[in-house]
Amino acid sequence: MEGLLKDKTCVVTGGSKGIGLAVVELFARQGGRVYYLSRSEAADPSALGAAAAAGGGSVAWVACDVAEEAQVQKAVDAIVAEAGSIDALVNNAGVTRDKLALRMSLEDWEAVLRANLTSAFLVSREAARHMIKRRSGSIVNMSSVVGLMGNGGQANYAASKAGLVGFTKSLARELSSRSVRVNAIAPGFIETSMTERIGEEAKERLKASIPLGRVGQPEEVAAAALYLCSELSSYVTGEVLRVDGGMGM
Ligand SMILES: NC(=O)c1ccc[n+]([C@@H]2O[C@H](COP(=O)([O-])OP(=O)(O)OC[C@H]3O[C@@H](n4cnc5c(N)ncnc54)[C@H](O)[C@@H]3O)[C@@H](O)[C@H]2O)c1
Repeated sequence: MEGLLKDKTCVVTGGSKGIGLAVVELFARQGGRVYYLSRSEAADPSALGAAAAAGGGSVAWVACDVAEEAQVQKAVDAIVAEAGSIDALVNNAGVTRDKLALRMSLEDWEAVLRANLTSAFLVSREAARHMIKRRSGSIVNMSSVVGLMGNGGQANYAASKAGLVGFTKSLARELSSRSVRVNAIAPGFIETSMTERIGEEAKERLKASIPLGRVGQPEEVAAAALYLCSELSSYVTGEVLRVDGGMGM
């Protein structure tokens, strides 16, 4: 299917690499006017330009630390001033600072909560103001299978991702009367810079726990984001869609 996001304004946070980059590229290929919010630009903007040209969409980088309220407000205002509206938002930005809970500093705890959970609240609040006026829109929050199952060494990360599930369902209830849908994706083990730090032995153990027997690719998560941001999912809200090769079932 082509043109699923034709003429739709899409905002993707953390779109400079990994899953976010795959979302930006796929959305542009599907005709979306994509703005990605990140602190630095993607390594190869010309590849994104080519994807956009092939699909009739466009891609623009907006410099923004999504954990900072003033920067988020400024970025969303600038996008709405230029594009006139926001149709889809993917809150994808995320970080890890792994440590056993008993050794974890308050700083590491708060930094992860702020980057992963507070950022989604801040960007959603600004974008939803515009969505409700037009009585349409779709918000997708990038949770994690770890938020559903827990993971030793990732108490801060798992708490932020579980928090996103509660946030998603609450916001879905608040915005449904205005036809704005809010869903979450819970990826499993996806091959990006976030997971490349995991040692080979741990990777093999992880793979053994995945029914499909392999790690996932960023494009496979992007496909789920496309479904949730397009009219294909017009009757879906408050859902957490696992994209994890069966890991969390
Ligand atoms: N890779 C996995 O296995 C996996 C599994 C489950 C969930 N996730 C989630 O998917 C999302 C993307 O992860 P990834 O694997 O692509 O990681 P990544 O490290 O490759 O990319 C993360 C992106 O978020 C951006 N970012 C982080 N903090 C930011 C901030 N304050 N402001 C702006 N941008 C910020 C980074 O710059 C980067 O572009 C994250 O939310 C992550 O938690 C990943």
